[in-house]
Amino acid sequence: MKIFLDSANLDEMRKAAEWGIIDGVTTNPSLIAKEGLPIHDQIRAICDIVDGDVSAEVVATDAKAMLEEGRSLAGIHENVVVKTPLTRDGIQATSRLSKEGIRVNVTLCFSAAQALLAAKAGAYIISPFVGRLDDIGIEGMDLISSITKIYRNYGFQTQVLAASVRSPIHVIDAAKAGADIATMPFKVLDSLFNHPLTDKGLAQFLKDWEKVFQETHASR
Ligand code: E4P
Repeated sequence: MKIFLDSANLDEMRKAAEWGIIDGVTTNPSLIAKEGLPIHDQIRAICDIVDGDVSAEVVATDAKAMLEEGRSLAGIHENVVVKTPLTRDGIQATSRLSKEGIRVNVTLCFSAAQALLAAKAGAYIISPFVGRLDDIGIEGMDLISSITKIYRNYGFQTQVLAASVRSPIHVIDAAKAGADIATMPFKVLDSLFNHPLTDKGLAQFLKDWEKVFQETHASR
């Protein structure tokens, strides 16, 4: 499963890229707005740091304007994947952009039926939102399982990206459910490292090492 960072913050990007474990980035208008720079500048800066797919979302709501915006975003860098919302206009724009060879990530997916439409439109990625479904009392991870099953049944090439991931459990469950990608905030990515037995074990190793090292020196 590929790991994407769900962020537009350059410091987080640098840190995650240093670890050598991220395969790409997803942004959305809320995340871009937090950083305060125009989207083209912010996406270009992200592409300079991360070597992988970088999703940049259109804010237009009608198909024609989405097409223009999508083409312009795709022109920023070869790694840009254009993000469109799962609306009628969004699917129409996805179909056109895909036919032009522009890779599209269809976002705000909350049902398997919607995911089927995105695949039919030639989407490169579908983004079902796990956490936001959990928020309204619906098991978000079931949607990932349904979509991966449907796509497998018919050989759709669209990649399933578990979005709105809020915890390490979500990451593990997305991997178990067969998601191709999980995108997560920096905080969740960072927390994947943690285990108290790793800390305890390392402290003991260093203590034992130090003891022998000091004794060896003392006996010389
Ligand atoms: C995905 O691409 C979205 O940017 C993101 O995962 C949304 O997550 P949220 O529901 O935590 O805002």
